[in-house]
Amino acid sequence: MESFINSATRRLHATQLVLLCALTILLSAPTTTAANLSELPRGFKATPDSSTKTFQPLLTDSNGNFSLGFLRLNKTQLALAVLHVPSSQPFWLANPSLLARWSDRTQLTFNGSLVLSDPQTRVYWSTHTDADRVILLNNSNLQIWSQNQDEAPAWQSFDFPTNTLVENQNFTSTMALVSSNGLYSMRLGTDFIALYANFNPGSEQIYLRHKAMEAKTEIVENQGPIYAQVNPDRYLGMYQTGNPVPADVQKFNSFQTPITGFLMLRLETDGNLIGYFWDGSKWVSDYQAISVPCELPSACGSYGLCTAGNGCSCLDNRTEFSSGECFAVQSGDFCSDDIPKNNFWVLRRNGVELPYKELMGHQTTSSVEQCERLCETNCSCWGAVFNNASGFCYMMDYPIQTLVVVGDETKMGYFKVREGAGRKKMNVGLGVGIGVMCGVVLIFVGIVGVWSFRVWRRKRGGARSRFMEEDGGLSPGPYKDLGSASFRSIEMGSR
Ligand SMILES: *[C@@H]1O[C@H](CO)[C@@H](O)[C@H](O)[C@H]1NC(C)=O
Ligand SMILES: *[C@@H]1O[C@H](CO)[C@@H](O)[C@H](O)[C@H]1NC(C)=O
Ligand SMILES: *[C@@H]1O[C@H](CO)[C@@H](O)[C@H](O)[C@H]1NC(C)=O
Ligand SMILES: *[C@@H]1O[C@H](CO)[C@@H](O)[C@H](O)[C@H]1NC(C)=O
Ligand SMILES: *[C@@H]1O[C@H](CO)[C@@H](O)[C@H](O)[C@H]1NC(C)=O
Ligand SMILES: *[C@@H]1O[C@H](CO)[C@@H](O)[C@H](O)[C@H]1NC(C)=O
Ligand SMILES: *[C@@H]1O[C@H](CO)[C@@H](O)[C@H](O)[C@H]1NC(C)=O
Ligand SMILES: *[C@@H]1O[C@H](CO)[C@@H](O)[C@H](O)[C@H]1NC(C)=O
Ligand SMILES: *[C@@H]1O[C@H](CO)[C@@H](O)[C@H](O)[C@H]1NC(C)=O
Repeated sequence: MESFINSATRRLHATQLVLLCALTILLSAPTTTAANLSELPRGFKATPDSSTKTFQPLLTDSNGNFSLGFLRLNKTQLALAVLHVPSSQPFWLANPSLLARWSDRTQLTFNGSLVLSDPQTRVYWSTHTDADRVILLNNSNLQIWSQNQDEAPAWQSFDFPTNTLVENQNFTSTMALVSSNGLYSMRLGTDFIALYANFNPGSEQIYLRHKAMEAKTEIVENQGPIYAQVNPDRYLGMYQTGNPVPADVQKFNSFQTPITGFLMLRLETDGNLIGYFWDGSKWVSDYQAISVPCELPSACGSYGLCTAGNGCSCLDNRTEFSSGECFAVQSGDFCSDDIPKNNFWVLRRNGVELPYKELMGHQTTSSVEQCERLCETNCSCWGAVFNNASGFCYMMDYPIQTLVVVGDETKMGYFKVREGAGRKKMNVGLGVGIGVMCGVVLIFVGIVGVWSFRVWRRKRGGARSRFMEEDGGLSPGPYKDLGSASFRSIEMGSR
């Protein structure tokens, strides 16, 4: 490197050298990026640092427990996040569904609104406020206040939860928790908490419904909306606004014990809702909405089979449950004109049922054949389970997930498997389509590549890394990599 600079400078005239130096200083001058502030004033501006591996703190609460900063995801992507610093767990993301790119063109500014943007192309996220300062409270709540101290902040992150609630945070019927893989969500109904799976866009399957017990007080119709809250007295409560007595209490394990650690509740990537307390060094599981593994909405993944106490296998007894899945994850339906209607083969398995069948709609048919025919002729149906004793026919309008083994062989399952899934055979039409796409992409890559190579000739590998950044920015996708399945998958980066 040094010899390169030497040989390069020798060829330059003095004036050019001065110009070059000025340019270098200008380019490397830090933008007003001060790490670890206790308050962001108007005019604040920060850009991500290319040397940061995982997290770049910008604003820290008074205890140093929580920090607002840039979280690097998947190497090239960026989320504005509030992190629990000792465990490196993200508690809140500003832009979970529209990740920015980790590039010096991305910036966070506070001009009255907190804005995450690439000024040349787009705004990823904004609070749409006109206020004076940003603070981070010691409970992870990010707030924006006006100078004239109103009673309420102009904006707060507690009103826009991601997948986590902390103690005392109010969860109302206008909010949703969404698991970090985007598959599961939690919402409130008129008098219940419900969990939903989104196995197919546009079809939502409820898999858990907890109605308020109303033991201590009743929910009165038209007397105000209900909300849920993790109470520091160590339970998940459901309340009606205006009434401090909980209409429902779901006790944590530490309820009425001397344990005191900070509480949080998170919707995990497996669809479970788990409560934790902080014991000073780690998060300890303290509540589970679903305590039996087979009752999870997709305990063994796509086309899996869950046996109580005996783990996972596959619906297709010729397939081995090895890599954690039976068939590749499938999507869509059989209705599209591009794909032949009968582009599937049929898998049957008796002695199975759906883990959440009590919450499913069903039709009554006179025979298993009639139930199967209803599904076979309906292009949005992926499968059906018939109960011979009741005549109930349960149909699924999303790709088959996990079924549960029951002793009763008269519960009969019928499942469509898309042609090619599980076998390394590709649909011809799809193959041609992908081929053409690849050609177009290659030509584009070629043009951009030549162009960027010229621009970045002197910077080894410059053209390539720039192109990868572009790619990451164009396809944000759900932030799958966040470590909710495993608690330790995100490490703190350099500060
Ligand atoms: C940030 O500030 C807090 C409190 O002022 C301090 O405890 C913490 O160590 C600081 N963190 C960094 C990364 O400087
Ligand atoms: C702050 O900046 C954003 C993005 O540049 C802009 O849309 C917004 O109008 C600005 N807000 C104020 C209060 O100046
Ligand atoms: C958090 O801040 C509030 C007031 O802002 C204070 O009453 C409380 O004791 C603080 N909690 C901790 C754990 O520092
Ligand atoms: C939660 O809602 C209750 C009742 O509406 C209110 O008294 C309390 O201040 C709210 N808590 C937070 C953190 O907003
Ligand atoms: C917050 O900081 C205090 C003081 O350092 C500590 O006792 C407490 O356990 C921390 N809480 C969390 C949730 O990290
Ligand atoms: C697999 O299932 C089919 C149909 O249910 C059955 O006929 C066959 O014996 C099973 N094979 C094994 C190895 O269990
Ligand atoms: C299903 O139920 C009918 C009567 O309801 C009975 O005749 C038939 O044998 C049952 N089929 C199976 C497979 O158990
Ligand atoms: C096809 O199945 C879906 C979901 O199972 C259902 O909503 C729809 O009404 C069915 N269509 C017909 C024509 O039966
Ligand atoms: C992360 O990158 C991998 C491949 O590099 C890709 O398959 C995955 O979808 C990306 N995840 C997100 C959240 O973009």
